[in-house]
Parts: sequence; structure tokens; C-alpha cells
Amino acid sequence: MNYATPIILAGLGFALATPGAHAQNVALDARIAKLADAEQPKVVAWRRDLHEHPELGNEEHRTAELIAAQLKSLGLEVQTGVARTGVVGILRGGKPGPVVALRADMDGLPLTETTGLAFASTVKSTYLGQPVGVMHACGHDTHVAMLLGAAEVLSQVKKDLPGTVKFIFQPAEEGSLPGVVGGAKLMVQEGVLDKPKVDAIFGLHIWATAPVGQIQYRPRGEMASSDRFTIKVIGKGSHGAKPWSSIDPVVTAAEIITALQTIVSRQVDLTQDAAVVTVGTVQAGVRYNVIPPDATLSGTIRAFSPATQERIWAAIKRTANGIAAANGATAEVGIEPYVPVTFNDPALTARMLPTLQRTAGTANVLEIKAVTGAEDFACYQEKVPGLFVFLGGMTPGTDPATVADHHTAGFKIDESAFPLGVKTLATLAADYLSKK
Ligand code: NI
Repeated sequence: MNYATPIILAGLGFALATPGAHAQNVALDARIAKLADAEQPKVVAWRRDLHEHPELGNEEHRTAELIAAQLKSLGLEVQTGVARTGVVGILRGGKPGPVVALRADMDGLPLTETTGLAFASTVKSTYLGQPVGVMHACGHDTHVAMLLGAAEVLSQVKKDLPGTVKFIFQPAEEGSLPGVVGGAKLMVQEGVLDKPKVDAIFGLHIWATAPVGQIQYRPRGEMASSDRFTIKVIGKGSHGAKPWSSIDPVVTAAEIITALQTIVSRQVDLTQDAAVVTVGTVQAGVRYNVIPPDATLSGTIRAFSPATQERIWAAIKRTANGIAAANGATAEVGIEPYVPVTFNDPALTARMLPTLQRTAGTANVLEIKAVTGAEDFACYQEKVPGLFVFLGGMTPGTDPATVADHHTAGFKIDESAFPLGVKTLATLAADYLSKK
């Protein structure tokens, strides 16, 4: 739907790129850049405050209060309690136009911080019944701070914005407790993309192994879908000394594990997209000389297109059922889709690439290989065209191999990354609305 708009307008001969409009956009760029630079002390202060007070997914109460208070101080319409602890701010520009959304995630992780930073977290909590430390070990504190910065910048130029900006602060990106729906999926279910209806959405992720100043992106499948599978092999138990009396689920499960390896190597078109099938758990039996009645495997599936994803689901079912049948056993296969493919709409990506290049400098905008991690930003992209990019957060000149990566206790970010992040978010929104 969104692809058609610029084409139709061009066909009607609308003067989208008149010198006047272009000059106006360049002037707006310059204002946004200046305001974003001026925002840096505040962004750093918010980030350090959030970093020192991290909260686990669906428990981001203090974080939500800080966000809501700041958005209200800018005069935005603010909704709280969206998908439990999410906050949405609406900024109406001075002229009519489309609706663009910018999204940041809010949650920390159950890790005990070891960075030694002056504002390191000492917060403790419990996770799945275990005592844990809590840490912003994926940089979501920086995402909230940069989006608050972008909200302030865009508020200062709002009379020149033709349309509406929706700021989405999302809880629980790292996943909710087992069996609980949360994060982007719940925000979408609760209508975050409606009233007013969002036409396109942008988001970014700070990246610990990319240098400050760099923006990385990939059109189409950028980050993988993530699905969990379980295979329960039901056989028949017996004395370990009399295997002919059993239908051995252990041997059957072993054959299934080996056969699953041919799904990616033999049945997926790897010239199109990468894919992964990993068996992570194998559970069977309690004693060395007893053949148990059943065995259970679980694992993860990563893919970069819905077609590949569905092909792998079908192959897992066929392989497990077929091998179980050959051995006289049965298999129960469960597949739980968790996060879809983070799919950057090709037309939107092509349209916004010049914006990224102008903001970061052409040489600093890199097209990257697919990332096999998953990101629930994908849930918004299932509903509306979206673009998700990575923002360099590593001190330039550092060897990426020596960097403490995301989701580790020593994870660190160079704060000089933030002005480009604020500019990128604000400029993507302003440019999208201006249909440059
Ligand atoms: Ni993250």
C-alpha cells in the first residue's frame, strides 16, 4: 500500500523535488542536526539514569514514568500502560500529512554488571525464581534516551512537520516469561499502529561491534525469524539388556537429530537466504540400563523469509514423523513461532537510504549481511512497512574482537554514538513526512 503512494504522485506530476521544497528540507535537516547535537548532555543524563536503574521486561515501571514525564513536558499526547508498561507519545505537526512511528525498546536483562562504570547497575531481582542482577546489557537504555532526544528535537520543529509522529516505547523486547504474550506483539494487538493509523515505522539498535558514526542496514530479511520446536518421540520402554522388547526412543531421537542436519544443507535454497536449525536440548531416560519410553528434543529455527520458514517447519515434521514411523515409534512435533523475520520493506529502504546517507555521510552507511539474531521490531513490520538499522556504538579504532558483546556482563557503549542516533531517528521521521 505504501509503495504505491510516491509512484502515483509522480505520475500526477506533483512537484516533490522542486528547488523550493528541497531547500526547505535541507534547512530542516540543518536545524535537526543542530538541535540533536545540543540534545547530547540530556541524552547522556537520561541514559546514565536508566542504565543505573534497569528493569526486567514487563516490569519497566520507573522507566515508563521517566518517559511519560518527559513526553508530557514536551506537550505530547501520552498513553501509558500500553502492553503493560509501554508508553506512546503523539506529536502532531503543524501541517496535515501521514503518520510515522519511531520505536525504542525499554527492558534490561538478568545479568550482573561487571563494567565498573560510575553509573553501573547494582540492581537485583528474581527471574524464573532465581536471584539475578539486572543490567542494560543490550543497550535498550541508549535507545530510550535517543528516542527521548528525537522527541524533543522534533517538538522544536513541529510547526514545519507535515504529519504526525508516534513515539513508541516498548517493553519486553527480550521476550516475556514462558506462556506470556508481551513486547511488540502485544503492543500491536493493543492497537499501537492504529488511532492514528501508522503508515511507516523506523527503529534502530545500537551495535557494540560497529564503530561510532556508522549506520548499517540490509534490505528485505535483515534479522532472522526465531521459532522454537519440540519433538517428543514416543516408543516403548524395556530392560536395557533386552532392546528387542523396546521401541527405543533414544536411538530414534538420535536418527532424527542427524536427519535434521540435512534440512538446511539439502532442502533450503541457500543462494536466496541463510537458515539455521539447531537442536539445543536432548532429554531421555534416568538410568543407564533402562530404555525409557520416550525422548524429547527441542531447538531453534532461524530463517530470513516466511517461505523458508514454512519449508523448514514442514521438513522438521516430515523428518520426525517419517523416522519415528520407520522405527515403529511416533513423534509429536510442536512448533512455536516466536518472532517473525525483521523484514525491511525494499521500497521504503530504497526511499530512505538517501536520508541515512545524508545524515551519516555516504561512506558511513553500510549494507550488511543478514544477522541470525532476532528482534521483535519484526511484529510491527508484519503490519506496516518498516526499516530497522544498526547504529555504531564502538569507540573508533577498537578491535571488534576485543569488545564485550551484547548480552554479556561487560557490555559497554561509547556515548559519542548518540547524536547520530538522535539525528537519524528525527531525520527519518521528518523526511518520511515531507516525502522527500
Ligand atoms: Ni536488543
